[in-house]
Order: sequence, then structure tokens, then C-alpha cells
Amino acid sequence: MKLKYDSYYGSFGGRFNPEILHGVFTELTETFEKVKADNNFWLEYEKILKNYSGRPTPITEATNLTAHFKGAKILIKREDLNHTGSHKIDNVVGQGLLAQRMGKKRLIAETGAGQHGVAVATIAAKLGFSCTIYMGEIDAKRQRPNVFWMEKLGAEVIEIKSGSRTLKEAINEAFRDWVNNPKDTHYLLGTACGPHPFPSLVAWLQSIIGKEAKRQMIKDYQKLPTKIIASVGGGSNSLGIFQEFIEHKEVGLVAVEAAGLGVDTDNHSMRLTANKGTVGIAQGYKTLFFQDEEGQMRKTHSIAAGLDYIGVSPILAYLVEKKRIDCAAISDKEALIAAKLTMRKEGIIPALESAHALAQAFKEAPKMDKKDIILVNLSGRGDKDIFNFGDLFFDKKWQTFIKQKAANQIESKI
Ligand SMILES: Cc1ncc(COP(=O)(O)O)c(C=O)c1O
Repeated sequence: MKLKYDSYYGSFGGRFNPEILHGVFTELTETFEKVKADNNFWLEYEKILKNYSGRPTPITEATNLTAHFKGAKILIKREDLNHTGSHKIDNVVGQGLLAQRMGKKRLIAETGAGQHGVAVATIAAKLGFSCTIYMGEIDAKRQRPNVFWMEKLGAEVIEIKSGSRTLKEAINEAFRDWVNNPKDTHYLLGTACGPHPFPSLVAWLQSIIGKEAKRQMIKDYQKLPTKIIASVGGGSNSLGIFQEFIEHKEVGLVAVEAAGLGVDTDNHSMRLTANKGTVGIAQGYKTLFFQDEEGQMRKTHSIAAGLDYIGVSPILAYLVEKKRIDCAAISDKEALIAAKLTMRKEGIIPALESAHALAQAFKEAPKMDKKDIILVNLSGRGDKDIFNFGDLFFDKKWQTFIKQKAANQIESKI
């Protein structure tokens, strides 16, 4: 099976936009088509990611986890080692270059976990754009360190206090802004969702992860992995690593969603797994949404802000329908246990999002042969989750420190 970048993937995808955005979408689609056909663009893109973000990211052999689970060899693709701490920087560098080509002066973006917001604020500073980031109030609270850094990098962060106060509302507000400022502004959407060409554009830019991984596997292990496991919010890190392997039928691809408080509860963010999502059109595209019988979006839940979203990439919905990708769901608790184990056994602090992929790998590894290889895409590092980990681990020393810090506000002498 070969994946072709298109506006529709089976019956999923498309573009359902207000008339006023017709011009910017045409301009973006044409620019995307041009850069896709221009090998120099990709070379420039790779060069910036090499010198600015530290790509290629390595593959680390998780020797202690492998020994612990006594099954398949566990390898970790280290997207956490990117500048700004996750895979989000790839898409942001690429779309930043596109925005320059289109002569835009301002970047706007939505963010859930704040990783995309930080990456956009970073590239806005580097390439000289002004920048506004939309973020749900709940996400801004649970990812406070990232809000701090976005502002220090020069971005305006607007907290959305309506609706579910998470990623869905942040996307709606970003579109509202774009409708009012279509000329000078580029909406730098952070995942492989939304109206065409965003799913294809983001998937194409993130395909750098899988291209590197394939080269590294062949060079260092002389074979491809048996399975690749990645977490799914909108779908950018999973598609980023999966795409290069879609044609290799022997490589299993597993997309991991957030089961939140449990598969059998209403508090999760599952759209692909267990038929929890149904086909609908929202936010300008057609995909599987977590919605009720009347098409009203339901409230999602996950401890990982980046997985807490009602829609999913139309490309993933299609690949799951075609049975090329398997899906699974991991609960908050399972993700937390996996994060702790990875810290203790490998000295790696994963983002809560990435911990979902690790947890799935830990379920599968013991059932597999020692000759098998599982490659986990570690999409980001857990520094941003310090307050969440503090609460979730119920760390008394940390909580006392926070209280004392809040009580002793010191004015800067600089
Ligand atoms: C570290 C990390 N991993 C995964 C995700 C999920 O997004 P996506 O499915 O687009 O990779 C996010 C989103 O914010 C993230 O910050």
C-alpha cells in the first residue's frame, strides 16, 4: 500500500471552510505543491533541522527495559532530544519557511500541551514573525511552564475560557483570528488534522522522522523493526514515523490513543479504538470524531494535554479503515506507570503523551520473541509535565517547595 498526498484519503479529509478563507487556502495549497516538487526546499529544511534542532535524533536501545520485559528488543526514537523538546519543531520549521515564501508577517497557532506553541514562538523569534498562540484555559493551567516560555519568547498567549477550554476551542479561536486577518497571517496548524492541505502538509514535513528511522535501522540493525508504536493526538508524530514504513507490510504499525479514566468510561479521547469515534465534519474537515448521535462534540479527557482532542488525522482514520494501522488505548494510570518505569530504568523522562506509546510497548514486548524489535516513537520530553508529575506522584517535597515559592515572591533587582 502506498500513501499519496491528496485532499481526500478514502472518504476522509476534504476542506469545509468559510468562503473568506478560500484565498489563503488556495495560496497555501499552491505553495505546498511547489515546495514538494522542489528538492532544494527539503534540503534547506533538513539543514535547518540539523543545525538548529539537532536532527537526526538518535535511536536509543532501551537495554534495561528490554531485560525487564524479557521479550522483544525495545528501541526508542528520541524526538525528545529536539530543540524545544518534541517533534513539533519539524512542522514549525517547515511551515515557517512556507510562510516566508508567502510573504506573511504574523504566525498564529493553537496548542494543547504547549509543545507546539513553544515551537511556533521559537521559530517566530528566529525568523522574525509576530506571534499569537491560542490555548484552552485548562491546558494553560496544566502546562504552565510552556505558557511562561512562549511569553518569554515574545508570543502573545490568549487563553480560551469557553467550551471545553482545551485544544478544540483553541483551534476554533485560531480559525476565527485567521478569518479576520487572512492577508498578513499564516495559521501554523500543529498536527495532521484540519482542512486540506494541512493533514498532507504536516504529515509530509513530519515524514523526516520515519526517513531517519529507516536509515538508522538498516545501518545499525540491518533490518526493519517488527512493530512501530506511537501516541496519537491529532496524528503528526505517529504519521511522521509510520509513513516511511507503510509499504513494508511486515512492519506492524500501532497508533495509541488516550483511554483516560478507562475504555468503558466516558472520560477518554478515543476516536480510532473500539469504534468510539464516528464520521463527522467539524473544524473544516471530515474524520472520526468523538461525538454524540446528533453530531455534538463530546468532552474528551486525558492526563496528556496533547492527546486530549475530539478529532484525528483523516490519514490515520483512512489507514485504520484499510487495516494498515492497528490502534490501542492506554489509560492515564498505565501511562503514568510507564513514565515512572522509563525514568528509573533508562534515565529518560518522557512527556505524558509519549508515555502512552511506551505503555503499549510494555504490554506487547513480553508477548513477542527476543528476535523481534519494537521501535517506540518518544515524541517529547517530560520537562513540561513537571507540575503534573508533581501532583500525580503526590510528591510532598515538591508541593511544599511550590507553596514556599508562592509565599516568597521576590521582586527582581535587575
Ligand atoms: C510531546 C507530544 N507528543 C504527542 C503529541 C500529540 O500530537 P500528535 O498526534 O500531533 O503528534 C503532542 C501534542 O501536543 C505532544 O506535545
